[in-house]
Amino acid sequence: MRGLFFTFEGVEGSGKTTQLGRLSATLRQDGKRVAETREPGGTSLGDAIRSILLATRNLEMVAETELFLYLASRAQLCREWIAPALNAETIVVCDRFADATVAYQGYGRGVDLKLIRTINRVATGGLTPDLTILLDLDPREGLRRVKERGQVSLPESSLDRLEAEALEFHDRVRKGYLQLAREEPHRFQIIDATQSEEAIAAEIWARVEPLIGSWTVQEGRR
Ligand code: TMP
Repeated sequence: MRGLFFTFEGVEGSGKTTQLGRLSATLRQDGKRVAETREPGGTSLGDAIRSILLATRNLEMVAETELFLYLASRAQLCREWIAPALNAETIVVCDRFADATVAYQGYGRGVDLKLIRTINRVATGGLTPDLTILLDLDPREGLRRVKERGQVSLPESSLDRLEAEALEFHDRVRKGYLQLAREEPHRFQIIDATQSEEAIAAEIWARVEPLIGSWTVQEGRR
């Protein structure tokens, strides 16, 4: 029996990193073994790839290069880290995963969706999340939050390469995520990210708790 795999998705500034931290803390308080990771990154190769991907100086990067770098980071993370953790019956929570490539490179950049799905399968080796939390937010509000987190007087300089994309790009990403959620309603949970941090955490827990319950029973745990 394997562990459980939860992923968090959303546009920039949707609060997924905060909520991921809260969910992990709740699960740990509940006595569960939890491992947190993120994409791109999560391994030393992946972190090196992440810095190439997000560096604002790499403006010449073409869509195909970007695509393969995200996939390379994912292939490494799945095999080096996620699959072994799941095999060790750990609950893995990941900040972005394969859906992000469909939303950003597919819907955002216009790379062929079928091609992305095919190479995503190669990268993940077929690993799919048990639950994906989609924090839905208007990118205008999300980018406002991101800028607020950075230097208020020099907002643009605090954005990474993808955050600095045009608003229409982020609108397409948001639409892409919502389309993905419509296609797989059982895996996705859409949450209105304009709510308070507390309300969002409660909604996430309401969806996670039953999964934990049936998993615990299957595992023959307490
Ligand atoms: P972060 O904002 O969650 O740290 O993610 C880093 C950026 O990478 C964010 O702008 C979304 C982007 N991204 C993609 O474009 N494609 C992907 O496959 C992943 C995982 C992230």
